[in-house]
Amino acid sequence: WIHTVTARTPTNIAVIKYWGKRDESLILPVNDSISVTLDPQHLCTTTTVAVSPSFDQDRMWLNGKEISLSGGRYQNCLREIRARGEDFENKEKGIKIAKQDWQKLRVHVASYNNFPTAAGLASSAAGLACLVFALAKLMNAKEDASQLSAIARQGSGSACRSLYGGFVKWIMGKEVNGSDSLAVQLADENHWDDLVIIIAVVSSRQKETSSTTGMRDTVETSILLQHRAREVVPKRIVKMEEAIRNRNFSLFAQLACADSNQFHAVCLDTCPPIFYMNDTSHRIISCIEKWNRFEESPQVAYTFDAGPNAVLIARNRKTAALLLQRLLYFFPPSADTDMGSYVLGDKSI
Ligand code: DP6
Repeated sequence: WIHTVTARTPTNIAVIKYWGKRDESLILPVNDSISVTLDPQHLCTTTTVAVSPSFDQDRMWLNGKEISLSGGRYQNCLREIRARGEDFENKEKGIKIAKQDWQKLRVHVASYNNFPTAAGLASSAAGLACLVFALAKLMNAKEDASQLSAIARQGSGSACRSLYGGFVKWIMGKEVNGSDSLAVQLADENHWDDLVIIIAVVSSRQKETSSTTGMRDTVETSILLQHRAREVVPKRIVKMEEAIRNRNFSLFAQLACADSNQFHAVCLDTCPPIFYMNDTSHRIISCIEKWNRFEESPQVAYTFDAGPNAVLIARNRKTAALLLQRLLYFFPPSADTDMGSYVLGDKSI
């Protein structure tokens, strides 16, 4: 027999960034973060997990190519879910699995991203969240989304926020064992559905410094990070929650842009400095800043993760249409401008 489960998980974009760990193996952050989850239609991972007595080892394929599951992060997620597996029975198929059997049974995992992994768009977040969710369903684990988020966190920090739609907060927690470092939903996907997300794929090249190594260097060398984590982010989190609750776009945009800029400032404050944005990213920032200053209140928010691609959040559909027009005019997709393409995260939040 073979028992399979398929799940689909969208990626998320942080508007208050996670950067820096206080515990590397448990993946515990130095500050809270807040993200928006994209509509699964646009950027998501689909994962099928299967279990069968004929499997002799855990194996995984990503976009059709076999990858190693031996890394600590995958192993942590597998171990945690296996320990929470419950009895499972499917009489029709003649399947009966006792909870202790999950330790012995091996799994096969096939995962696909509906966007090019090489485009540098957050793929680990959706990937690890989807893996944990699918494994939990396969093994009949009874944990709720928040408990699963604490497991996904151990695969990749940002993954814990992809267990929910809408606006999500990753609470950093205080416990040394990480049990209270998990994600909670601040508002669901219908709360603020005027917003439209457009991602400008500035460069499809793989990033030079991975988030994991980048944030390790930052924690070791940046003084600005300590100020950010202790003084700046806690206040911003409170205000961002207020902005989301009241659908206050001006406050939302001001906080999201400032936080993205401070995250990149912290990267520059790292030794050796980390450059994630390029000239095109900087030109996009200037363009949005000018536009926002010209209007009575901000129309578009921007945020950049560990790469040059711009995530632009327009306050409504009308603004999104204007934004796309402007982007195509000032930054036409071409090799010269290093501008790749645009991905619409329509009705994303
Ligand atoms: C800039 O979650 O990829 O996107 O925990 O080491 O796997 P690891 O890092 P990762 O870092 C994401 C950093 C970020 C900001 C964010 O998503 O909050």
